Amino acid sequence: MYILTSSGYQIEIGSLETSGFSDFIQQRYSDSKIVIMVDENTNDNCLEYLITTFDFLAEAEVMLLPSGEENKVMEVCFQVWEALSDYGIGRRDLVINLGGGVVTDMGGFIASVYKRGVDFIHIPTTLLAMIDASIGGKTGIDLGVYKNQLGVFMNPKAIFTDKIFLETLEPKEMVNGFAEALKHALIRDAALWNELSSLENLSELSSDEMLMRISSIKVEIVNSDPYEKGVRKILNFGHTVGHAIEGYFLFREPVDHGHGVALGMIAESYISYRKGILAKTTFEEIEKVLLDWFPVPQISMPDIQGIVELLYNDKKNHSGKIQCCLLENIGTCVYDQPVEEAVFADALVYLMSKSVSLN
Ligand SMILES: NC(=O)c1ccc[n+]([C@@H]2O[C@H](COP(=O)([O-])OP(=O)(O)OC[C@H]3O[C@@H](n4cnc5c(N)ncnc54)[C@H](O)[C@@H]3O)[C@@H](O)[C@H]2O)c1
Repeated sequence: MYILTSSGYQIEIGSLETSGFSDFIQQRYSDSKIVIMVDENTNDNCLEYLITTFDFLAEAEVMLLPSGEENKVMEVCFQVWEALSDYGIGRRDLVINLGGGVVTDMGGFIASVYKRGVDFIHIPTTLLAMIDASIGGKTGIDLGVYKNQLGVFMNPKAIFTDKIFLETLEPKEMVNGFAEALKHALIRDAALWNELSSLENLSELSSDEMLMRISSIKVEIVNSDPYEKGVRKILNFGHTVGHAIEGYFLFREPVDHGHGVALGMIAESYISYRKGILAKTTFEEIEKVLLDWFPVPQISMPDIQGIVELLYNDKKNHSGKIQCCLLENIGTCVYDQPVEEAVFADALVYLMSKSVSLN
């Protein structure tokens, strides 16, 4: 199954073994050195399958990145750039990013900047990376507690998505990916929301058809606005508050990206309702589904103050005003909506009222 992006690269969903992966590499990169970026978990769970299935990868250099959001940082990039240089990697070589969103974001950034750009492809290994992070050409790293502050738009040469990698994923990572799937549905596809919101078992997401359907939403939005000048901003629904929560707790009690986005979607749906844009009953429906899957951790008033401060560094802000996406209905989202600090604080206090102990 293929999805063609307007940027010219292809996403192939299905078994890697029977996919066009082998031909793709051998036709384009037979004389190139190949570097495979992995993190600790994809090194243990995914790499062997890849290199034993494809002989031509036996000679590839493997670059082991430390796993986790706290390592999506410049210090790691410097080490990898030095290693690439030591290995003599040049502009005609290829980087394969084998991992979740941290590896695809950071590996894509490393490849894009090294020698002004080396080709890279993604083989996403988490649900979140399959349906979201690997798609759309945003590469980047964090700057302290500020998410994705450094980066470039650079598309991979191809994406190969094989559900086999989901087999070793921890259940909580399926839930994290589910958050972005629910977001795609909330901003664009009410029918998908109805299906996803009644799912009892997330293994139902691991079919090629479902991966294709969910990924296609992101592709379609990115195709119409590759550099996020307009409609692509709706993909950030839940991320204004979500990123601030993720960043604030990163060096305290980390909240995973997907979980943070889900909490952000509750807060931003609440703001949509309080502003009279979203019907109360619709807000309540959204909140119920999200709270069932994504419990709200303990949040205190000083935490709220810290989270609100981080909102001022969001990339979507304009002229010092915090902007976010708001829902009009399930399946319809508006972007560039200025929201006052006090309204965010109010939404976070509301979120705090839903806190449960996660221990
Ligand atoms: N560029 C974009 O458009 C975009 C969109 C959404 C999210 N993101 C970014 O993606 C990141 C989150 O991605 P994520 O949730 O995939 O996180 P992640 O990459 O940290 O992966 C989650 C965990 O799963 C492990 N893992 C990965 N694949 C595995 C496998 N097959 N088996 C066992 N363990 C495995 C990882 O080592 C990690 O511990 C964030 O940094 C976020 O900012 C980027």
